[in-house]
Amino acid sequence: MSEIIFGVTQEHLETGLRGYPVGYCTTSFVDPQKGLFYMDQPISDLVDLEPLEIIYLLYHGAKGTSDEQKAFSEDLKKRAQLSDETYQTIKTLPKKGHPMKLFSSALLTCGMLECTGDYKEDCLNLIAKVPLIAAATISHHAGWELAPSDPNRGYIENFTEMLAVPDVSKEDLLRVFKLFNKLHYDHGGGNLSAFVGKSVASSLEDLYGAMAASMCALEGPRHGKANQDCLEFTKKMLEQLGEDATSEDVEKLLREKLARKELVFGFGHAVLRVEDPRASIQYEVAKKHYGDHPLVKMALLLREAGPKVLKENPKISNPYPNVDAISGALLSAAGFNLPQYYTVLFGMSRIVGISIQVLYERDIARSGKGVPIYRPKYFFKGKV
Ligand code: MLT
Repeated sequence: MSEIIFGVTQEHLETGLRGYPVGYCTTSFVDPQKGLFYMDQPISDLVDLEPLEIIYLLYHGAKGTSDEQKAFSEDLKKRAQLSDETYQTIKTLPKKGHPMKLFSSALLTCGMLECTGDYKEDCLNLIAKVPLIAAATISHHAGWELAPSDPNRGYIENFTEMLAVPDVSKEDLLRVFKLFNKLHYDHGGGNLSAFVGKSVASSLEDLYGAMAASMCALEGPRHGKANQDCLEFTKKMLEQLGEDATSEDVEKLLREKLARKELVFGFGHAVLRVEDPRASIQYEVAKKHYGDHPLVKMALLLREAGPKVLKENPKISNPYPNVDAISGALLSAAGFNLPQYYTVLFGMSRIVGISIQVLYERDIARSGKGVPIYRPKYFFKGKV
């Protein structure tokens, strides 16, 4: 008999499958103490690479030689196109909903018009197309003129140019968009958007449909939209305490908020039990380039005061900052002060990792047979 790897007790029910082993992830894992690894490399060792070098690592499982890397980049450049019909349809989407709803709709639209039905082709196509889809969605929602695409500029360079954010320094924007993009490609196999994407694809739904569903999962405030909510929380703290706030002021206000049972954003994580290394990397960049920006200053005060206050509650298993604690302040300081689009930036990046995970489950797992349709068991409880 094979080894028992997990025991299910009554207490595990109705816990959102927290920690249940489901399968294998071939791209990344999250160590509670060390944080995110892409393949076997800690994220801190990879942040200086170019986006396409990291995507190569995630897709192929190893860093390529410069020739292999070049061939991969050239292939993606050729795939980085959207049909005119896709662009025109994105421009007809209603602007009323959250931009993530437009993004999911744009993915479905692109799937209806451009899907090949082959998971491998669609995975590479979507990785190449997603910066164009995200740029078209955001500029349509914001009412900006979308600049023409030229994939030869580079993966995030092209996204930044296409987006044509008014009145910002392109250098600042490129620096933070690139970093944000590289830090959000993947986060192990069990985060909700990855799990949803893989389970939807297990019905043999195509990759675009699976990714649209996955982006609806990411839109929720407990998942990807936490980056937007966290910046709004940081802004509110700044408004309440002013630019000269001290760590003691922040501690006091946090205690008051907790006493009033208000939510405190940017701390804790389902898996991590230390400060999220993706946050640590961004704190360093924020200090170096935007140390005087009021939102960065407030985010740094929260980094100091938050864990002190949260540690006072023994029920809190992780009182440390997560990736959202600083990403919004950093984007704002660089001139992208538009929190409603932060989850779209998250989705544009995360689609890379999830698409590769879907490709594994559909075409490679179980000696190529693929993972069967997801079908966990629920006990009948009757009406309560
Ligand atoms: C993250 O990036 O932190 C996530 O997708 C959330 C998780 O890992 O569950």
